[in-house]
Amino acid sequence: MKVTVVGAGAVGASCAEYIAMKNFSSEVVLVDIKEGFAEGKAMDLMQTASLNGFDTKITGTTGDYSKTAGSKVAVITSGIPRKPGMTREELIGINAGIVKDVTENLVKHSPDVIIIVVSNPMDTMAYLVHKTSGLPKERIIGMGGALDSARFKYRLAEALDCPISDVDGMVIAAHSDTGMLPLLSKATRNGVSVSEFLDEEKQNTLAEATKVGGATLTKLLGTSAWYAPGAAVSMLVQSIVCDQKKMVPCSVMLDGEYGESDICLGVPCIIGKNGVEKIVNISLTDAEKEKFATAAKAVRDVNGDLKF
Ligand code: 2OP
Repeated sequence: MKVTVVGAGAVGASCAEYIAMKNFSSEVVLVDIKEGFAEGKAMDLMQTASLNGFDTKITGTTGDYSKTAGSKVAVITSGIPRKPGMTREELIGINAGIVKDVTENLVKHSPDVIIIVVSNPMDTMAYLVHKTSGLPKERIIGMGGALDSARFKYRLAEALDCPISDVDGMVIAAHSDTGMLPLLSKATRNGVSVSEFLDEEKQNTLAEATKVGGATLTKLLGTSAWYAPGAAVSMLVQSIVCDQKKMVPCSVMLDGEYGESDICLGVPCIIGKNGVEKIVNISLTDAEKEKFATAAKAVRDVNGDLKF
């Protein structure tokens, strides 16, 4: 099974590395526009194979999409990352053109491909891929909630002073500093609601820290994060390639679900060999419904800046 990762920068290379190390795909193709960069990253990663124990074949190409032909999954990470103080939405001008061009090249060589969108502003880039690719909507998955949920679990474990394996939690709505919705009402420690351990102030503090998780790291790193985004993508790719049918919050095209249509937003989805196999309708509190609608409005405003 071939998986393509477009963009051999920090996020793309991390995606490729984690996919390779999990050994569930025979081949990973890294694509970049910078001469020799993808080839170099692929070679460096292949030289870890004997050390990290994987047989996945990683290759790199400078813009030759014929090398991506027949990909089951393609991950779009290309575009510029945030600088400290920037919002994801400020990237739209440059990244929209890149994502559109990449999508057209991918679909030309892999008409049956499932596309995972990482480039920011991700919910809007996922919407752009829907509008320009012609792919069935179940084959376009925006990766945001998987990453945000991982950050939510990190903050829950930090607040509870417990192992991360003890906690569970999900983040839906928009992959943006203000539109993210950590579902505190459903967060648990070993099946017990976190509200039995943390007061409302502590819960809200960790939820707010989750929402700015990306910006916090951008301030520390001087650029966007890459390890957790890469790991989140590799989890989604594995659920597709191995038909695991995981329930993961993903930015998908809504057609009335959660009261929204013609928009990509993070909602719980069953992810399997066909991509988005089901959008799962879960109960939300009135406050959560209101936050979801507010997030939708903000994403719709950004979508309005797109020029197809
Ligand atoms: C993040 O939140 C890159 O949007 C990604 O780190």
